[in-house]
Amino acid sequence: MQLPQRVQLIDVGPRDGLQNEKQPINAATKIELVQRLQDAGVTEIEVTSFVSPKWVPQMADNAEVMAGIARKPGVRYSVLTPNLQGFEAAAKTRPDEIVVFGAASEAFSQRNINCSIAESIERFRPVVQAALAAGVAVRGAISCTVGCPYEGEIAPERVELVARLMREIGVQRVDIADTIGVGTPRKVQRALEAALKHYDMACVSGHFHDTYGMALANTLAALELGVWNFQSSVAGLGGCPYAKGATGNVATEDVVYLLQGMGIETGIDLDKLIDAGKFISDALGRKPHSRVANALLTKRLG
Ligand code: HMG
Ligand code: MG
Repeated sequence: MQLPQRVQLIDVGPRDGLQNEKQPINAATKIELVQRLQDAGVTEIEVTSFVSPKWVPQMADNAEVMAGIARKPGVRYSVLTPNLQGFEAAAKTRPDEIVVFGAASEAFSQRNINCSIAESIERFRPVVQAALAAGVAVRGAISCTVGCPYEGEIAPERVELVARLMREIGVQRVDIADTIGVGTPRKVQRALEAALKHYDMACVSGHFHDTYGMALANTLAALELGVWNFQSSVAGLGGCPYAKGATGNVATEDVVYLLQGMGIETGIDLDKLIDAGKFISDALGRKPHSRVANALLTKRLG
């Protein structure tokens, strides 16, 4: 079995992670988190989202956060934009990439973005066109590709359909998300294979939440298919406000430890990453949700 030699990680902690936190976190803390992630060698960071502040109050400081980060050459900063209104606000903050986000489940699409899958594609179409015309890259996130909190198990054909529709409107790469973390390795592979019918390997990434503790196993299963792009969240921050019971994304620290141990290059300094996770966990008043971070923080105490 030939595993990829290098993996590209997108840390989604500042967005997917913090969006779910009830306690307000100030923009300065979010900016410092981004700073610490890039200092640790993370080269793709999902910074914030330009969604309705009534729906997700924690992301209301999106423009302030984007304006406050000291950009590092070679780092790609992405933001979520559900519609043209979001894109227009986002464009002023000069993201490198925008993310349109749909779902393989009708019920989740309704709950999350207040429209059907077909309507969401029509909403994304002008966003994608505007972004590409402005020279901004476009990623598409597909939620609930294995299971849905409302519809239960999701067939790979549903994933294939949304991947095809995203491809048709010009989305350049897609994230296959196990939003509620119910996936197991073979099921996750089937969801990824469905997307791979419409996208090249370099354009398909795994986005796994660790609710059932399966995210690292699923990451390995994705690597076995040849997938080498993944999203994870420092300190395992996160969840989804519209997916009850969904816990955080797989912790970036855990993924980096797994990859390093297998000799797969990430370009990330694990110690600095752990410091970044400790920083945001301290701000939230809790321990990191990362086995690796907690093990190595304990070891540091000697
Ligand atoms: P809507 O209510 O259907 O939108 O919301 P609307 O067009 O009817 O507008 C209603 C109001 O929202 C208006 O304000 C608009 O101005 C405002 P009002 O006149 O009532 O004062 N509005 C906006 N404000 C700011 N930015 C915007 C925007 N658009 C409309 N872009 C909408 C539709 C999509 C906006 C709404 O449903 C929403 O914001 N949803 C939040 C979705 C979200 O952020 N979910 C979490 C991220 S997705 C995720 O976590 C999954 C992922 O990680 C992958 C995975 O794990 O599965 C990506
Ligand atoms: Mg997510």
